[in-house]
Amino acid sequence: MQKLLIKGKKKLSGIIPISGSKNATLPILAASIFSQKVKIENVPFVKDVFTMIELLNFIGLRIKINKKNNSLQIINKKNVLNSIAPYKLVKTMRAGVLVLGPLLARNKKAKVSLPGGCAIGTRPVDLHLFVLKKLGAKIKIKNGYIHASAKKGLRGCKIKFPSVSVGATENAILAASQASGKTILLNCAIEPEVKDLISFLKKIGCRIISKGRKIEIFGKFKPVEATYKVMFDRIEAGTYLIASAIAGSNISLLNIDHKIIRTELKILKLMGVKIKTFKNKINILESKKIKKIKITTSPYPGFPTDLQAQIMVLMTKAEGVSIIKENIFENRFMHVPELKRMGAKIEIKNNTAYIQGPTNLSGAEVMATDLRASVSLVIAGLIADNRTLINRIYHLDRGYENLEKKLKNCKSNIKRI
Ligand code: UD1
Repeated sequence: MQKLLIKGKKKLSGIIPISGSKNATLPILAASIFSQKVKIENVPFVKDVFTMIELLNFIGLRIKINKKNNSLQIINKKNVLNSIAPYKLVKTMRAGVLVLGPLLARNKKAKVSLPGGCAIGTRPVDLHLFVLKKLGAKIKIKNGYIHASAKKGLRGCKIKFPSVSVGATENAILAASQASGKTILLNCAIEPEVKDLISFLKKIGCRIISKGRKIEIFGKFKPVEATYKVMFDRIEAGTYLIASAIAGSNISLLNIDHKIIRTELKILKLMGVKIKTFKNKINILESKKIKKIKITTSPYPGFPTDLQAQIMVLMTKAEGVSIIKENIFENRFMHVPELKRMGAKIEIKNNTAYIQGPTNLSGAEVMATDLRASVSLVIAGLIADNRTLINRIYHLDRGYENLEKKLKNCKSNIKRI
């Protein structure tokens, strides 16, 4: 099994190009189930994207991968697509459940494996099913699969989500785009990746109006051919912003729209990180002193749960006690025991972490438990004394494109063994 070996305490400098967004690419790929021919650009070639490509192949789409320019050409010549998303493809990537809405809308039936739990919590799909039932689907759970059918097709209606969910909002938009009539969704997730999915659907011919947390979708659109460029990965950008703040002397991040990551930039500036923003670029200069802070993770435009583990490492360098309240997932502190083994002083009470700083981290052999927890260990390894060896790095490969190459180009001492 592959591991990452990092020799820490090297000052990083250089340029890091930010890749396309994994979390925007996945629902856009699910939406391509509707199209005849579409080209998608700025696709990050990470494991989750390849799993989704495999799933679409299984369903019956033809996908040409162009690794040189990070694009995909998707061609759909079949009138009848397979309606099944099997367990072996959905179990490794929850976003597989995003094909449920499109398959049901297109084929009037779908059989999609239940994704099951994962390290960061139980992660149910009740909200996905709630919205599809409102649109007229009949749903049964049998042998670990969701069996959904809508013999007469889905019907548009008004639906208010009881709580905000990114994936359920995306599944609802996807299903409603081929329902009859208009659907009004209230209390939607407004993450930039949801907006990117809406932009893609508009580009292939669907009429959608969104204002605040309300989204109106006009159903039964006729798909047209299109080329679409996926937005930048704001979580990858945030990860390298934090890594640069903690281990860098002068780093430029490219391909970023800084307006989308306003909250993250505000928090980092409050912590004393020196940041300069340009049109498509952010420069991070060496920060002399990191200040303590209290943050709460919440849906966009709040601070993202997907950057919680990474910012915790920065907090180990701040003077005093920093606090993180995790409001999205119930079990997202799996990185804490590993960071403690590296010398961090962290206490957990319920959903709140108290980080005492400043501490000097020391290298150790550690275990990655999920995607963002793994990358927090990489950041910790960059500033730790001696060597850090990270096990189970397949989690990292699910969501970070060319991680070692990007860090090596900034003079870090990191290698895969
Ligand atoms: C997406 C992101 C993930 C991110 C998360 C929150 C993708 C592929 N993944 O995941 O990286 O951490 O948003 O920003 O885009 N919930 C329910 N019932 C449901 C669905 C969700 O109770 O049917 C709960 C979840 O357990 C969680 C909360 O709602 O507590 C938010 O989850 P959700 O926004 O749905 O996350 P994902 O779409 O799975």
